[in-house]
Amino acid sequence: MKAVLDHIGIAVKDLDAALAFYRDALGLEIEGTEDVPSQQVRVHFASVGDPKIELLEATAPTSPIAKYIEKRGPGLHHITLRVDDVAAAIASLKARGVRLIDEQPRPGAEGSMIAFVHPASTGGVLIELKQAH
Ligand code: CO
Repeated sequence: MKAVLDHIGIAVKDLDAALAFYRDALGLEIEGTEDVPSQQVRVHFASVGDPKIELLEATAPTSPIAKYIEKRGPGLHHITLRVDDVAAAIASLKARGVRLIDEQPRPGAEGSMIAFVHPASTGGVLIELKQAH
């Protein structure tokens, strides 16, 4: 499987505070903001070259991001690896006994299809697999 680091996701509790740092203090350009209804989040991509930084803002109390922040506080949430075929990647990992959060690809940001791998199988890191549109 070929995989490329696509972005790093940061769970944000207070978007204004996050923007005051990433956009205003660091001077990063926020190049895209998008709602991802399947995860009840609004994502803000900060341009730092390739890979990007993705600021994740919960849009509902039931959002996985809201739950994450409740449990662990804001901060580093996931890293995303871009693969050619996310369904094939899921099948291959499953065959090796890797624990997956998503057994089927689901819609992510920017028209992508994504699936999360459980941290129990990755050494404690939430890994998102992404097939670009
Ligand atoms: Co992400």
